[in-house]
Amino acid sequence: MSDKKTEVGAKARVDSSNALSFSAPNLIDQEKRNFIITATACTGAIGAAAVAVPFIGSMLPSERAKAAGAPVEIDISKIKPGEMMLEEWRGQPVWILNRTDEMTADLAKHHDELADPDSKVAQQPEYCKNANRAIKPNMAVMVGLCTHLGCSPQKKLEAGGDMGENWTGGFFCPCHGSKFDLAGRVFKGSPAPTNLVVPPHQYLTETTLLIGVDTVEA
Ligand code: FES
Repeated sequence: MSDKKTEVGAKARVDSSNALSFSAPNLIDQEKRNFIITATACTGAIGAAAVAVPFIGSMLPSERAKAAGAPVEIDISKIKPGEMMLEEWRGQPVWILNRTDEMTADLAKHHDELADPDSKVAQQPEYCKNANRAIKPNMAVMVGLCTHLGCSPQKKLEAGGDMGENWTGGFFCPCHGSKFDLAGRVFKGSPAPTNLVVPPHQYLTETTLLIGVDTVEA
């Protein structure tokens, strides 16, 4: 067994809600509204990092550094098709989305609308440079931070709804309007320049995901 496996186990959870409120008073002009939305979303993303502090605050410096960068082992057996889990790794929110077969099939339907449909920009490990940006076709693993200015996009997993009749599910960043599909690929016209980051990861068993390293022997 590799030495790296001994690093596994520093696990942290954060609240799964990343929804933002849009109930700003009508008297607030658009400029102030944009500032508030940006600040709120980015604060939420940063908050994910803050969760880890109580766990590592009492450790020695060397232990602290190791825990902050340690891989995170996750039981994904409870994520039903169509559902998403939020975890934290290196102070960043990481989404684990169990796409339904229909969601996965829909990924091939809007290539013309995407800025980088074939994931040519190195925003993912080589083993995820494929049609689904995933090791398991239905299981998406992404860092939940917008590649524009780092806000945390909202999940808009369902087709249609307030995103319009052509929407097949994905993520919407309210800060400046970037849109991503269910593989984290950015739509053309978004201020975000690249697809969402796929972190290094691997499966230790059928239902155990390891985020942060991809060289441990399964
Ligand atoms: S941070 Fe600007 S669109 Fe997401």
